[in-house]
Amino acid sequence: MTDLELKLAPLVDAIKEGKKVAFFNGAGISTAAGIPDFRSPNTGLYANLAKLDLPYAEAVFDIDYFKENPKPFYTLAEELYPGKFPPTKFHHFIKLLQDRDQLHRVYTQNIDTLERLAGVKDEFIIEAHGSFANNHCVDCSEEMDTETLKAHMRDKQGKQNGIPTCTKCNGYVKPDIVFFGEGLPKKFFTQWDQDCDQIEVAIVAGTSLTVHPFASLPSDVGKKGLRVLVNKDRVGDLGRRKSDILALHECDHVAETLATLLGWDKELNKLYGE
Ligand code: OAD
Repeated sequence: MTDLELKLAPLVDAIKEGKKVAFFNGAGISTAAGIPDFRSPNTGLYANLAKLDLPYAEAVFDIDYFKENPKPFYTLAEELYPGKFPPTKFHHFIKLLQDRDQLHRVYTQNIDTLERLAGVKDEFIIEAHGSFANNHCVDCSEEMDTETLKAHMRDKQGKQNGIPTCTKCNGYVKPDIVFFGEGLPKKFFTQWDQDCDQIEVAIVAGTSLTVHPFASLPSDVGKKGLRVLVNKDRVGDLGRRKSDILALHECDHVAETLATLLGWDKELNKLYGE
């Protein structure tokens, strides 16, 4: 057995016993699909935003900055807009747990909607940082449907230079992604109140755990829960509890290894299209 297989054994046992798994996802579960994460030193988004001429990298997702200058966000949105990227093996692994009635919840910071594309049902997903699914004016809150928003984005030669603008008040329109300076969706808090003491297995994956309040969820998992970190680096307080498992590897490699140990590998490869 490899070192990783040995480490994963208690997780495999828990899944075989029928325990339910909750996920706490970040950008690192989607890098294998070709989407950059935010904070990896050379490949992350924040290291590659020089062309957008921002005062500081995170300004691209700052609500006050957006209200003054929405252009950098819309330049980036063109690259990141969902629809171009396929789910990874890790996303499909989550779906396999759903198929076995062993998915508890998926808390995700990601706005790429790849959990949904992999077939995970809405009832399981908490998009803590919102998504591109709906759009509103930042001044008067008027809604704009996605097709209209996309048409505005394409209209680069038009009066608004490709910036979606409210038909009612002329304010800037933005997808309902949670920017710095904005509150998280209510559902995030109400669902977490219900879930936090019930968690049997928590898999924290592909996140640097730097953005709060999401970053504090893993430490709020009840002491009876088995916590597993799937990430290139050790983050948060994972590793401090005796039962914690640190799987410091690529997310897809861990998904493949788990699927093999559980005998789900053929099914996983089929979903992934191999
Ligand atoms: P980060 O970029 O901060 O962290 C990604 C983590 O995943 C890092 O620890 C990487 O080492 C790790 N990683 C990358 N690729 C991996 C792979 N293939 N396998 C395993 N680990 C991998 O991304 P998040 O934690 O998601 O917020 O960032 C949190 C929030 O900060 C985002 O939701 C976004 C950003 O500002 C908003 O936009 C509001």
